[in-house]
Amino acid sequence: MSKLTIDNVRDQIIGIDNKVPLLDGRLVQYINLDNAATTPTLRPIFEKVNKFLPWYSSVERGAGFKSRLSTEMYRRAREIVRKFIGADRDSYTVIFTKNTTESINKLAHRIDFASDDIVLRSIMEHHSNDLPWRLNANVECININPHGGLDLDHLDYLIHKFSQHIRLIAISGASNVTGYLNPIHEIAAKAHAIGAEIFVDAAQLAPHREIEMRSLDDPSHIDYLAFSAHKMYAPYGTGVLVGRKDTFLKGDPDSVGGGTIELVTADEVRWAPLPEKEEAGTPNAIGAVALAEAIFCTQQIGMERIAEHEARLSAYLLHKLEKLHGISIYGDTDPGNTPQRLGVIPFEVDGMPHQLLAAILAYESGIGVRNGCFCAHPYVLKLLNVSSQRIVTYKEEVAHGSHAGLPGLIRVSFGGYNEESEVDALIEQLQRIVRKEHHGEYVQDRESGEFKPKGYTENFDPYFSL
Ligand code: ALA
Repeated sequence: MSKLTIDNVRDQIIGIDNKVPLLDGRLVQYINLDNAATTPTLRPIFEKVNKFLPWYSSVERGAGFKSRLSTEMYRRAREIVRKFIGADRDSYTVIFTKNTTESINKLAHRIDFASDDIVLRSIMEHHSNDLPWRLNANVECININPHGGLDLDHLDYLIHKFSQHIRLIAISGASNVTGYLNPIHEIAAKAHAIGAEIFVDAAQLAPHREIEMRSLDDPSHIDYLAFSAHKMYAPYGTGVLVGRKDTFLKGDPDSVGGGTIELVTADEVRWAPLPEKEEAGTPNAIGAVALAEAIFCTQQIGMERIAEHEARLSAYLLHKLEKLHGISIYGDTDPGNTPQRLGVIPFEVDGMPHQLLAAILAYESGIGVRNGCFCAHPYVLKLLNVSSQRIVTYKEEVAHGSHAGLPGLIRVSFGGYNEESEVDALIEQLQRIVRKEHHGEYVQDRESGEFKPKGYTENFDPYFSL
């Protein structure tokens, strides 16, 4: 294949031409505007995995040629990840996990928090960078500013207030709701100045911007970082946790069993060196190979080209959205600012439930977006300015089995393969919706909150079946 570029990457997306059924019986090309959730597969990654499969065997567990080859490729994948984020071998260990969520849970278990240690995380975090800390430490919350961005003054206030009790600042590199980029190195320097550390949730950042862990003697270095391959066009079940070796050398692993030990006697265990100590069970060699190839693809296209392309698309969408009446956009709405943020744009059609809007886009134009709170309930409730009184009502409704009234937004999130014509298709459909020209009749399921076309039965079998 010729070199992968931002201009030809679309042709290399598996399933890009897939047609999906609409309510009126037509088949149309699917438009995927939900890349912040998960990306489709890139053909070179699929091909690399297929090429590996005839050689695939157990990793670190066999004497045969295929085992030795698989072990070597798994190790090489680790080195490719290490170089991708600039983590030096002496200071950092690269641990393969299932995804970012598993990485954060592992880290939250592996830091030996004292009873009065505090983790600062922000209200803009994905639940995965919030709940593991709530379960393992004392937590305090960094606020957002009126535009939904991180409130750095409030961070300074919290640092001043809790100073040496702060053990860790856990912050997203980029928001999965608004696409805001957080100044991670500036925050790192603040953390290190009070003897704390920083964890960066890079699930959204890694596919769109270059990352540098930096050297441990640089005050702006990152101590811990996690990301997932499935947001980088490699959906084979791999995530990464990169962290300071000294943290993982101490104590017992959070998950134990095969692969984590050097020696076990009837009453004693000697843990394996890093990173094997932290990877219980048979490693996902396919996932590691896929991630290594995803990194190679990203580097071939060039992170800057990806960022430019996504910024152009975001500006194009924001320009078009702001001309539509009856649409409210959240976060940074300025098309001029898109180079400084990710292509993740949340909005709503005034007066229309988010679940209904998402359903109309899907059933009447084959456009896939995500709706709801995007696993970031506190952030979206804050962006929507939901009163505490309303939150009490929602809690009662959920306790009684109804998700019908839950607030939320529609989110468009771009990948490097999306194109302007897809934004045009979205805008055309939104114009019809705000003019109330959509034609389906939808009913809401009280339990899930989802809207479905009345009397419509879905049959997936002609497309894919098990
Ligand atoms: N974290 C992913 C999202 O924002 C799943 O959609």
